[in-house]
Amino acid sequence: MLVKDRNFKIFIHESQIQNRIAQLGKQICADYADKNPLFIVILNGAFIFAADLIRHIDIDSEITFVKYSSYEGMESTGVVDELIGLDADIRERHIIIVEDIVDSGMTMREMLDDLKKYSPASLEVVTLLQKEKSIAIGQKFRYTAFQISNEFVIGYGLDYDQKGRNLKDIYIVENE
Ligand code: IMP
Ligand code: MG
Repeated sequence: MLVKDRNFKIFIHESQIQNRIAQLGKQICADYADKNPLFIVILNGAFIFAADLIRHIDIDSEITFVKYSSYEGMESTGVVDELIGLDADIRERHIIIVEDIVDSGMTMREMLDDLKKYSPASLEVVTLLQKEKSIAIGQKFRYTAFQISNEFVIGYGLDYDQKGRNLKDIYIVENE
């Protein structure tokens, strides 16, 4: 399948994704019963994953959405990422970050550092995908749906230059 200028092929089927998310949902409900966790979803990529996951959560919980805005700083140091949209009070809350994919792990490390400053009661991550790169450096999360190789993937919220988020399955780039 051609998306922009690259070919992609099916990698993880919709049914596999949905089965795994149902499992994770159950696990989270068991782990967080009576803890009223707050899910913090990182936009844009995680929007579909979060929408499906949250519908498997039948314990008391809340959900909110944040984003990293990249902007050119005044300094010559270049691009600065700022966490925007955090409107909930997360002090003493049980936080679960919802992410689509951890690649190098830099974004997640920054997110964890940013949120730790607010002294949450606990801080865990649920990610749909984790690439080998970050596994190799020892990054581990409480909940990971699928561990994958380092190739580029799209679909199910993940994009290639904003294209492909709408696909029901996850696709992997085909090397010509
Ligand atoms: P990291 O900081 O290297 O872990 O990269 C994190 C961000 O890069 C993710 O939140 C995605 O937005 C993007 N990204 C990394 N790998 C892929 C991919 O294979 N497909 C689509 N987006 C990706
Ligand atoms: Mg992302």
